[in-house]
Amino acid sequence: MTKVSRGPTTALYPCPVVLVSCGLGTRANIITLAWAGTLCSDPPTIGIGVRPSRHSHGLIQEVGEFVVNLPSADQVHWVDHCGTVSGRDEDKWAACDFSHVSGTEVQVPLIGECPINLECRLVQTVSLGSHDLFLGHVIAVQMDEQVLDEDGGLEVPKARLLTYVNGGYRTVGELLGRHGFSGSR
Ligand SMILES: Cc1cc2nc3c(=O)[nH]c(=O)nc-3n(C[C@H](O)[C@H](O)[C@H](O)COP(=O)(O)O)c2cc1C
Repeated sequence: MTKVSRGPTTALYPCPVVLVSCGLGTRANIITLAWAGTLCSDPPTIGIGVRPSRHSHGLIQEVGEFVVNLPSADQVHWVDHCGTVSGRDEDKWAACDFSHVSGTEVQVPLIGECPINLECRLVQTVSLGSHDLFLGHVIAVQMDEQVLDEDGGLEVPKARLLTYVNGGYRTVGELLGRHGFSGSR
């Protein structure tokens, strides 16, 4: 196999693409992020990479909470919009016509239209360079009834979740096997 060297870059594909809500009341804002990942199971911890220049950066630090909303294909237009326009220049909640849903553990509003919402408490900030890493403990999770199967588990095709690969938005693709299907122990 012949390899073509590309030098150091963040080619960890595919990335999730999420809408993070932050800020309170009339100052509530939404930012699109692809630098987001699960980092620890117990306590459940998520990391998001946010440039200090983003309007959302200050709001997350100020409130100490944020919500990671997982969009479906239905919201892809607004995913792009919230990643292009700043909350300094526009009320993105109003532009997207998203509904504010109250969380159970945080004051920051959840995006009602997104099928899954992770309520997070900011526990640590790490300065990495271009981006700051915000570490959040997931303190509650909300899921739309419509994306659940009869056992209460996530029915992936119903959620039509998005990924971000090489500048493009895609839905999550075909199922190739379930955990353990290889029979290896
Ligand atoms: C697909 C996509 C992914 C993005 N990922 C990030 C990211 O991980 N971190 C970041 O700081 N900005 C990211 N951005 C850029 C911000 O979303 C964008 O600058 C936004 O307008 C900032 O909004 P704010 O100023 O209201 O916070 C991304 C944009 C897009 C379109």
